[in-house]
Formats: sequence, structure tokens, C-alpha cells
Amino acid sequence: MKVLVTGSSGVVGRYSVAALQEAGHAVAPFDLVDGHDVRDPGAVERATRDADAVLHLAALGVSSAVRAPEMVATNVDGTRTVLAAATRSGVRRFVYASSVNALGVFLGLRAPDRLPIDDDHPCYATSPYGVSKLLGEELCAESTRTSGMSTICLRIPNVVEPITTPWRAPRSRSAGSGSTGSSSTPATWPT
Ligand SMILES: NC(=O)c1ccc[n+]([C@@H]2O[C@H](COP(=O)([O-])OP(=O)(O)OC[C@H]3O[C@@H](n4cnc5c(N)ncnc54)[C@H](O)[C@@H]3O)[C@@H](O)[C@H]2O)c1
Repeated sequence: MKVLVTGSSGVVGRYSVAALQEAGHAVAPFDLVDGHDVRDPGAVERATRDADAVLHLAALGVSSAVRAPEMVATNVDGTRTVLAAATRSGVRRFVYASSVNALGVFLGLRAPDRLPIDDDHPCYATSPYGVSKLLGEELCAESTRTSGMSTICLRIPNVVEPITTPWRAPRSRSAGSGSTGSSSTPATWPT
């Protein structure tokens, strides 16, 4: 399958491109760092032309340094541009990187209505980032309704890189009742 990956040079993008290639798929990378911009309809149209599937990761992140209008231009209008081009090109599968922030209950922002949180849990996003991700989900749903293209929205939680993130073993509880003495033995990264 030919897969267009937007945001291919980012943290998730690099691992996704490698995994897709390892699985035998042909990958077309698309990232601002290489001069490809999801805010440019012409460039997006050309990039989607031969794609069977799109993995849409390109976005501005949760950082408060990013102002709302920039967030909307890339995360919302950019997503709309990629969806529209994918639809016109007859892309069959579209995977969208949403975020747990779309729910608005992450990091104690608000208590969830219920646990476990399922797909039907109401969304209370208020941050520009969370709202932009939620709007991206709505645009995906709209595309599926109007064109039939399959869209999947992943509400990704925090992603960490095994190579750069120090990973420690959980605190040991075996050294006596109630002890939380820390272990100096690093845990191996789950494979
Ligand atoms: N990393 C996380 O913890 C996390 C959590 C939840 C959701 N997500 C979502 O997953 C996706 C990937 O996250 P990440 O951590 O790899 O982010 P990242 O910031 O590492 O990568 C995003 C990539 O998008 C590119 N990009 C930004 N604007 C662009 C534009 N206009 N046109 C083309 N490319 C553009 C950037 O150059 C960058 O390479 C994002 O949509 C993000 O919102 C990430």
C-alpha cells in the first residue's frame, strides 16, 4: 500500500514511517521541515494523488507558546485540506492523530464523568490544542459521512521515546511494609 505520512519527521512520524516500511508499505513523507506544508492545498493535492492511505500526524503541539490562530491554521484548516485532497484522490483509509486532550480531562483538568473512559464519553476540551484536535475529529467524521472514506481518530496519550527518555524501574514495595524505597536498577523498555 502507498501511505502518505504528514508530520513524518516528528516523534511519532519517524517511528511510524519506519514501522510502515518494515511492514512492506511504500511511504511518502510530508513534513514542514522538508518544505511540505499541509496549509498549502496544491502541495497536499499532489502528495495525495497516488496514495492508498493517509496517516495525518502533522500538527502544532500542546505548547502554550503556540497562539490559537496558528493552531487553527495548521491543526484544523490543515486537517481539512488533507481530508479534502484525500477524498478527491480516492484514498481508502485515513488515520488521524487526535489527542487525549480532546477529552479535556487529561492531567486533572477536570474529573471524567465516568471510568473507564470510552469513545462515547463527552469531550470538554477548552485549550486551543484540545479544541483543535476535537475539531479535527469532527472533520474526519464529516468526511466519512459525505464521501465514505474510512477515517480513524486515535486519541493518543503522552508519547515518550525509549532512546531519549530516562526510564526507571517502579519503586520497590518489597523492602518492608509500606516502603517505597526506590530501585537503582533501570527497567528494560517493554518490547
Ligand atoms: N507526542 C505526543 O505525546 C502526542 C500526544 C497526543 C497526540 N499527539 C499527536 O500526534 C501527532 C504527532 O505528534 P508528535 O509528537 O510526533 O509531534 P511532533 O511535533 O514531534 O511532530 C509534528 C510534525 O509535524 C510537522 N508539521 C508541523 N506543521 C506542519 C505543517 N504545516 N505542514 C507539514 N508538517 C507540519 C512538524 O515539522 C513535525 O515534524 C500530532 O498530531 C500530535 O498532536 C502527540
